[in-house]
Amino acid sequence: MVLLFLLTYDQYPHQWLWDSCFHAMILANYSVNHAKDEIRALLSSQWNDGFIPHIGFDPAQETNYKPNSSDWVTGHLSSGITQPPLLATAVRYVYQKSNDKAFLLEVLPSLFKYHLWIKENRDLNDDGLAVIVHPWESGMDNSPIFDSLRNEYLSYSYPKFKIIRTDLNHVNQTQRPKDNDYQFYWGLVNLFKKLNWDHKQIVQESPFVVADTLFNSIWAKANEDLSCLANEAGFKNEASLFQRLASQTKEAVRKTLWSPDDNFFYSYDVKNKKQIPIKISGGFMPLYAGVPSQEMAEKLIEHLTNKKEFWSNYGITSVSMDEASFNPECYWRGPVWINIHGLLAIGLNNYGYDDIAKSLGSISKKLVQKSGYRENYHPFTGDGLGAKNFGWSTLADIM
Ligand code: DGY
Repeated sequence: MVLLFLLTYDQYPHQWLWDSCFHAMILANYSVNHAKDEIRALLSSQWNDGFIPHIGFDPAQETNYKPNSSDWVTGHLSSGITQPPLLATAVRYVYQKSNDKAFLLEVLPSLFKYHLWIKENRDLNDDGLAVIVHPWESGMDNSPIFDSLRNEYLSYSYPKFKIIRTDLNHVNQTQRPKDNDYQFYWGLVNLFKKLNWDHKQIVQESPFVVADTLFNSIWAKANEDLSCLANEAGFKNEASLFQRLASQTKEAVRKTLWSPDDNFFYSYDVKNKKQIPIKISGGFMPLYAGVPSQEMAEKLIEHLTNKKEFWSNYGITSVSMDEASFNPECYWRGPVWINIHGLLAIGLNNYGYDDIAKSLGSISKKLVQKSGYRENYHPFTGDGLGAKNFGWSTLADIM
């Protein structure tokens, strides 16, 4: 298993936050000590104020990946933006596998700080919805839900960058974001750098502020998990605080992200004050956090199992097949992702759809048997796409 993770090194030679959380959970099934070390390595990138970056850089790989630490200039060996906050969930999973109280006590203070950082810096209106300020923070980088914000940004005069695309050294351009996406990604990084990584100011000035369905679902569930861990360790006040945050987020997702017209959850564009009505797999993630009522869940499942929308030969497409932006081979614009299957299976079990959850498990296994542990898969052929030997796709083995 460890070897598999190392092999992903060509395309992604550093440590990514939510990837690593999946890796820790998977590793816990094979070697719980490696899983704990994965968590410790993630926490070694934490800033003093509690923030955890989306990439912790390996200095030996500086020239192999762009933007690198000399582009970000955060004052840390890390990026300055974050990613879906799956960490407390990963720690709870590893704790359940190890029963190691000393490990729990070792990491809990950092987790408390991390969650308080998100609450304070990203829940702008104290209404439970956490915002992201960069498409990379969503984990679904070039999802079409971000196209209109990208286009809005590119329509202004903005500093043009000579972008160096190390990602194209290993993966075909047709499967990766386009140069104009990268202008947007780098432009935002450059703006944040000018703001000296002052996160309070960044959230005020970023042209991209989105309350994302996947991010908030993971946030709600992680608060619940952190509350359980706090309880286990005897921190009663923290246990009730994080339980309160979880309930607040769930209620806000139901209230602001649900579309009763389309029976779907959409991310919310905070600057333009509107939902982004494009159906993507992130719209099912509230099932994972136990957000929808049973009735809402039933309606969502109709979209999920519709062969004209998400239910392809090889699993759940990242974008509904009836969306104009659907593209079966480009990164987060259509291909199937095994980590999404994993989160969805949990959500389906929450609502009693065990059979559908089970079939996502067998489809995931079929994908890796056919095409190996790839970053993502073509929904019509099951062919592997993107990076090879991709860590989180080993999730198929334990589904
Ligand atoms: C990448 O390198 O494509 C990542 O998703 C950005 O963090």
